[in-house]
Amino acid sequence: MKKLKMISLVLSAAFLFILSACGTSKTNGDGEKKTLRVVTDAAYAPLEYQDKGEIVGFDIDFIKAVAKEAGYKIKVEHVGWDPIFVEIKGKTADAAISSITIDSKRQQTYDFSIPYFLSKNEILVPKGSSIKSTKDLEGKKIAVQNGTTGQEVVEKLFGENNDKLKKFENNNLAILELKKGGVDAVVADNTVIETYVKNNPNDNLDFIEDDATFNKEFYGILLPKGSKLKAELDKAVNKVLDNGTYEKLYEKWFKTKPDIKILKD
Ligand code: ARG
Repeated sequence: MKKLKMISLVLSAAFLFILSACGTSKTNGDGEKKTLRVVTDAAYAPLEYQDKGEIVGFDIDFIKAVAKEAGYKIKVEHVGWDPIFVEIKGKTADAAISSITIDSKRQQTYDFSIPYFLSKNEILVPKGSSIKSTKDLEGKKIAVQNGTTGQEVVEKLFGENNDKLKKFENNNLAILELKKGGVDAVVADNTVIETYVKNNPNDNLDFIEDDATFNKEFYGILLPKGSKLKAELDKAVNKVLDNGTYEKLYEKWFKTKPDIKILKD
């Protein structure tokens, strides 16, 4: 009898061990939730930026809500834009959130969550600029963040070998170049440009929309190709979109209601 008890004890211990070592488990051996390493380029206010040493922004609140819903802890780390893609490709990070547009080129190498944010490119110019649409950008000096859809659209319009196009490692440097007079315009995501104009009235800048040229874009959470997390995060994103959390966060950051339906179509 004693022997039998011993055997069953050993067996159940072995079973528990295997269960906790299993890759799909959300807990580590101590029964604590697994912590996801999430990388970002925190230089894109108000979506992700640094405030007194803290990484904050709409995207950060959103990914925290999604992780919580999915039963994960997270640690968000600012690594910069280009490194995001290196880390996700090399699987040294579990996910990235950084206003990353879901596009077919990236989808060849990466997976994305379902869409969580509607965006489009926009032009930032000095107030009173003669630039009124993308057409007027012809022959003008333009700054973009390297490797963004902003760069892509400008190259589509004016060619890839365009010495008037200045590419920067982050978007703040592109805006700085405009303020210094080194370029005539910046092309970047509308939310970021409009927030900058509003928050920096003394810079005398203005934003120009061009719906004929700039397409609708949707942000997604960037994941390694084939990531097992995708199904869990998609489910959690849907929950956050449907249970009022998204609307609450959106109103906190943008003082207006989101169009959730457009994200689901
Ligand atoms: N949405 C654009 C893209 O995916 C720009 C994103 C830039 N994000 C950032 N955190 N700097 O290309």
